[in-house]
Amino acid sequence: MIENATKGLLEGRRLLLGIAGGIAACKAVDYSRKLKALGAELFIVLTQNAARFVTPLSVAALTSSSVHLDMFEPDSSSAMLHIELARKADLFCILPATANTLAKVACGLADDLLSTLCLSHGRPILLFPSMNPVMWQNPVVQANVRRLKDVGHRVITPAYGETACGECGEGRLPDWPVVREAVLKALTPQTLRDINILISAGPTREPIDPVRFISNRSSGRMGYALAQEAARRGAEVTLVSGPVSLEPPPGVHVVSVETASQMQNAMQTLAQEARIIVMTAAVSDYAPIVTAQQKLKKTFETLHLELQRNPDILTGLTSSCRPNQFIVGFCAETEALREHALQKFKAKGVHLLVANDVSQKDAGFDVETNRVLLLWSERPREQSGPSLRQEEIVVKELPLLPKDRVAQAIWDKVEQLAGL
Ligand code: CTP
Repeated sequence: MIENATKGLLEGRRLLLGIAGGIAACKAVDYSRKLKALGAELFIVLTQNAARFVTPLSVAALTSSSVHLDMFEPDSSSAMLHIELARKADLFCILPATANTLAKVACGLADDLLSTLCLSHGRPILLFPSMNPVMWQNPVVQANVRRLKDVGHRVITPAYGETACGECGEGRLPDWPVVREAVLKALTPQTLRDINILISAGPTREPIDPVRFISNRSSGRMGYALAQEAARRGAEVTLVSGPVSLEPPPGVHVVSVETASQMQNAMQTLAQEARIIVMTAAVSDYAPIVTAQQKLKKTFETLHLELQRNPDILTGLTSSCRPNQFIVGFCAETEALREHALQKFKAKGVHLLVANDVSQKDAGFDVETNRVLLLWSERPREQSGPSLRQEEIVVKELPLLPKDRVAQAIWDKVEQLAGL
């Protein structure tokens, strides 16, 4: 599902991919195929030791990419392969980076094609170390990692778990989503760098008894896509999520909640630190006044549940909005989208409203695409509200897009309106 959503995100990007000689070289071939599937053009360089784990022929066949091993390839069209490849690449990744490769890059050694490219590339390299946990903890390896970071390279900490040698600890090549996001982040302008962003996503559940609840069809995808895109742009993202079946986005801090009241508590507390707040959650508007302690029995022909209105979390946030805070609201409708959206823009006191018709097959809840209206006003938020005239509200319609593209368009607009 995520892979469909991210398809094409590396279209037109050229990646130089170094594979060093560790057992994770086998995994690197699979990751190369996945990078290729995202649209990247790959130039792959193997070290001599990597070629003991995977052959150049199998890597070339599996990735349909050019694979190089030697500085002085007899059939190469260029006598300057180490310069030519370095110039072509938008991004240089080493995956896996062994302890030996880390040491060579940290010291500036250039005794084979991969290490020479590390010098001729002249820009930050994205390294994914992978090795035995004891080796990774070795102070010499850690000193090399610090040195690499000091000179501007990005080193992704290995994942914790069982390594090929049977030991447990930090040393594994991270799972694909972490690798994918590190690559996408390295290629994305850091326009939201270090900005604290708070996003709510998904439905809430209001319990009727221990086994039943009131909820809605929100899948959480729009909020998760917004969180992921903000993290790619360098933001510090906290995602307050109702119950969904999505993987937590790498690099995003997820706070899980269930009811509207839990969501409200989390949002109000975390809002104090947030520069930007986005309420995508489909909050249940009503909750049962009483939650039965035991499972309700089907004793009667009819059953009446008394419901009480939940607080409007978004309105609470906008009414205590700080001068430097920027708040985005969502609007889910099944009819008269534009009219309802204009009313909600005035009523909710947000800087930007994103409205969608959730009754459409290809937009809104539980699908991977969305078609939205963006609403904002050039008037300062303090002077807006119910008195705002319709002509003072700008309405822009976006075409039908995958939710990650909608997320990009929303962040572009937020950056512009918030003056980031
Ligand atoms: N929202 C909220 N708290 C609620 C209900 C909604 O914070 N109890 C937020 C949503 O997260 C969204 C915005 O308010 O950002 C609009 O939500 P929507 O469901 O479209 O509208 P409602 O305010 O619930 O109004 P109605 O159901 O009458 O359309």
